[in-house]
Amino acid sequence: MTETSRRIYIFDTTLRDGEQSPGVSLNVEEKLKIARQLARLGVDVIEAGFPIASPGDFEAVRAIAREVEGPIIAGLARINDRDIDRAWEALQDAKRPRIHVFIATSDIHLKYKLRMTREEVLAAVRKGVARAKSYCQDVEFSPEDASRSDIDFLCQVLATAIESGATVLNIPDTVGYATPAEFGRLIAEIRRRVPGIDRVQISVHCHNDLGLAVANSLAAIENGALQVEGAINGIGERAGNTALEELIMALYTRRDYYGCHTGIVTEEIYRTSRLVSSLTGMPVQYNKAIVGKNAFAHEAGIHQDGVLKERTTYEIMNPAMIGLVQNNIVLGKHSGRHALRTRLEELGFKLNEAELDKAFARFKELADRKKEISDRDLEAIVEHEIKQI
Ligand code: KIV
Ligand code: ZN
Repeated sequence: MTETSRRIYIFDTTLRDGEQSPGVSLNVEEKLKIARQLARLGVDVIEAGFPIASPGDFEAVRAIAREVEGPIIAGLARINDRDIDRAWEALQDAKRPRIHVFIATSDIHLKYKLRMTREEVLAAVRKGVARAKSYCQDVEFSPEDASRSDIDFLCQVLATAIESGATVLNIPDTVGYATPAEFGRLIAEIRRRVPGIDRVQISVHCHNDLGLAVANSLAAIENGALQVEGAINGIGERAGNTALEELIMALYTRRDYYGCHTGIVTEEIYRTSRLVSSLTGMPVQYNKAIVGKNAFAHEAGIHQDGVLKERTTYEIMNPAMIGLVQNNIVLGKHSGRHALRTRLEELGFKLNEAELDKAFARFKELADRKKEISDRDLEAIVEHEIKQI
């Protein structure tokens, strides 16, 4: 890290926007497991949920706020009194709470969804941010659909949020419509035009509808954004959110270019990815950057030859950096429960005793037929069989 390296803050929304992935629903215990792992990963902020959305979401945010220390714990609220009050009720026991309020600012959302005028939106921002601030020093404000909003109105809304006490302004590309150069210019324009912007942190929240979420987030960083929001494995609404593991490793691997660093313990990335995949039931595509099964695999003879001679010929990252450790212990029919538990933990699976019993029995059955049990075999046992317990 050079002396001038800029610190980028990582805001994880796996438990809120990530859980909005179609088909995903996590219970309180599962959310707590993920939140504890996110704390080990070293994220700066955990958005634990949307407390008004359901009693389960409320309970999860409250449990995480009470139990998980280290990161800031955020809860989402629309900009109305009921949402904000409920968010605070869930967050109030956190050591470092943050209320995250949002309202849309694009004409299309104002006309068809909110049925509000621009003046009404400005008034709601003034009142809502001030109400959140009356509870909590740390208030994040998001103008939903910012990238499709009129820039003059957007700047007016952002200035109002700052005047009313917001500490973080988050610029969402809600429908994943922006391109990198365009999104970078939007951040630069906001920095140039919004009075008081230097007093707050600029954040970005990109969706992946065109596969550009990570690229857009990086363009925003190049233009002064200090916080990036995203989810592990890029899960989230529709095509998902910025994949945090990709963003983090891009900043690390190309620190010569970006001149930035994060507080992430990169060695925890693989374990976190496995845990999120196994608890949400969302598989990670094989060729997914950083955490996919093939991300560090070499198939072509020329590549294999090159890597065997010198790893950096075809590998720009050391797999150990994301916690993919070369496994020296061979698991076979003579292996015991301890070795199995250790390897499962390295792969990101934390099983209770009953689950471990079942996994161990299944492992022994398989080991009778197969000389060596691979990590893939173990993942299959846990993901397809243990989860049915
Ligand atoms: O995509 C979005 O605009 C959001 C906001 C609530 C930040 O998720
Ligand atoms: Zn979103």
